[in-house]
Amino acid sequence: MPERAGIASSGQLVTALGRVRVRLRPIGSDEPRPSSPSPYDDWGQIDPRAADLDIDRWVIEIFSDEVGSDGPGVTSVGDMTALPVWFGPTTGSMAMNIGIGIVEGFRGRGIGSIAQGMLADLLHDRGIVRVQASTDVTNEPEQRALAKAGFAFEGIAIGAQVRADGRHDLQVWSHVRVL
Ligand SMILES: CC(C)(COP(=O)(O)OP(=O)(O)OC[C@H]1O[C@@H](n2cnc3c(N)ncnc32)[C@H](O)[C@@H]1OP(=O)(O)O)[C@@H](O)C(=O)NCCC(=O)NCCS
Repeated sequence: MPERAGIASSGQLVTALGRVRVRLRPIGSDEPRPSSPSPYDDWGQIDPRAADLDIDRWVIEIFSDEVGSDGPGVTSVGDMTALPVWFGPTTGSMAMNIGIGIVEGFRGRGIGSIAQGMLADLLHDRGIVRVQASTDVTNEPEQRALAKAGFAFEGIAIGAQVRADGRHDLQVWSHVRVL
């Protein structure tokens, strides 16, 4: 990841308190993850078929001398998911769609940008060429975070998502590494 204001290098965040490192810890579907509610995941009625989706999960952790509630210097600040999306029946046609939630008090500090860039790199390293993310057309923080993470805006998926308050258009972003 190129260096930007506030971001020293991949996985490192420079704050007023000093350097904070970000890491992704894989978790199982039954393991607890931090709560990060937002208007963008107020789903209403969940389709039971969604429970069968093959979702990989990670907790986003930051660690430094200055923070610590989950152990020595480690704080869980959010979670991420990755879900296979097939564009054809061949191995190379499988993309991964990622999702993220940051705990409210930790938003807007650069963590979401770093974590999404890290997960894209991790998935590329596993052989996935296309990593994609979709977000509501009104979700400017996520759009900015994806752009900072090196994702490219591709277009609008019209009427793609239904939440408790109705149907919504989503922006589609991608992070492509040809292997
Ligand atoms: C969207 C989200 C994952 C981004 O993570 P983050 O750690 O807050 O992102 P970053 O700090 O790396 O970047 C957020 C950008 O949005 C801007 N921003 C504007 N309003 C903001 C707000 N209310 N909260 C957070 N960031 C905001 C930040 O300033 C920053 O842009 P900048 O660096 O150009 O100034 C996180 O805010 C979040 O969990 N939000 C609620 C859940 C959600 O929307 N998830 C995504 C669903 S697709």
